[in-house]
Amino acid sequence: MSQRLIAPSILVADFANLQRDVEMLNQSEADYIHIDIMDGRFVPNISFGFPVCQAIHKHAKKPMDFHLMIEHADPYLEECMKVGAQIITVHEETCRHLHRTVSEIRTLGAKAGVAINPHRPVSSLEEILPYVDLILLMSVNPGFSGQKFIETTFEKTRKLKKMVDEINPSIIIEIDGGVNDENARIFFDAGADMLVAGSFVFKSDDPTQTIANLKKA
Ligand code: DX5
Ligand code: ZN
Repeated sequence: MSQRLIAPSILVADFANLQRDVEMLNQSEADYIHIDIMDGRFVPNISFGFPVCQAIHKHAKKPMDFHLMIEHADPYLEECMKVGAQIITVHEETCRHLHRTVSEIRTLGAKAGVAINPHRPVSSLEEILPYVDLILLMSVNPGFSGQKFIETTFEKTRKLKKMVDEINPSIIIEIDGGVNDENARIFFDAGADMLVAGSFVFKSDDPTQTIANLKKA
């Protein structure tokens, strides 16, 4: 049974009113605050760094879910912990020694997640599943909010769910990119536990209500 967790992506918040938007999330039914860190190398965009994370952390009453879209994650794991990370997800494509990196994340005291890009097969995760707490399937190409989700992610979610049930059923399956009220239920039914939503939440007229609706999708 899926956990139906919602993690709004702060990337789409109003950065001139960050405290207001974090407080909105605190009051909402959001389960996590999703923090997208981009380096302009692994992805063709730069988001924000640790001073901004610290400012979010200062006001956040919800746990922070870090999604590192950066080439070199290892030197920044401790810094993520200092600014409130409870989940740290690294990209499989960027980590030469992925087992070492996820082990380090757990040693530091966070849940360890592994993300994969749309073109990567879930079979590439088989050997790491026993060692992680979360798998993030990118349902868009990472780097930008506001993109349309890639349809084949439904089937990919079902495949991953099957693998997870066999190898490590405690894993949280997270979907990131283009989530809305039309696809949320399909993702939950396919086996997703946690949905990231940026534009669909923050660009709606009533973000708090939108989060509540996604949870019930
Ligand atoms: C994309 C990021 C996503 C993004 C989601 O690279 O990882 O978390 O902010 O935004 P939407 O929901 O607008 O696709
Ligand atoms: Zn993300």
